[in-house]
Amino acid sequence: MNDILILIYSNPIAQTIRENELLFPWVEAIHVLAVTLVLGSIALVDLRLIGIRAINRPISNISKELLPITWMAFLVAAVTGAILFTSNALSYSQNFYFISKMILLGLAGVNMMCFQFIIGKNLDQWNHYQQLPLPARLAGALSLVLWIGIIFCGRWIGFTLEPVLAIS
Ligand code: HEM
Repeated sequence: MNDILILIYSNPIAQTIRENELLFPWVEAIHVLAVTLVLGSIALVDLRLIGIRAINRPISNISKELLPITWMAFLVAAVTGAILFTSNALSYSQNFYFISKMILLGLAGVNMMCFQFIIGKNLDQWNHYQQLPLPARLAGALSLVLWIGIIFCGRWIGFTLEPVLAIS
């Protein structure tokens, strides 16, 4: 694992970011922008699922409108996040909040897949419901909690990062 992280840490992109004062802040700014779009678009769908917002609007319309934005923003967040990670791979890989954020991202992905392919596979049938079935409301609430957790962990990475030059 140490060799892989040293390989990532010493690749030319990572070196360029480390040596250029402006690149890291620019990439992180784009990361934050993408993250706000991910959270914003997911929160609108989740609040409808829970039954707090837009309860007179059909859930499948809201989902169809917003999920493409979520996926596009997620892709940008993942690419910029990976670039940020390479610049200090050894330190991030040992950071509690970075590890927690990756675990929460995985759980958010599983929750989304469960909703997409199991709970919400007949979403259109709920279009005339104001209050959605309990599994849908729970999936929305869990999604919101996970994504807020991801944001908090993301923010805490920068406050808690310790320089690591090698893993024993
Ligand atoms: C959509 C999913 C993601 C969300 C919601 C998210 C959220 C965040 C947030 C809120 C920050 C703090 C920004 C700041 O303090 O200015 C952050 C920073 C960061 N994220 Fe993400 N992130 C996501 C995906 C990723 C991925 C996939 C990776 C890596 C593979 C990653 C790696 C990082 C790194 C390295 C930082 C910089 C920490 C620092 O040194 O300040 N992120 N992320």
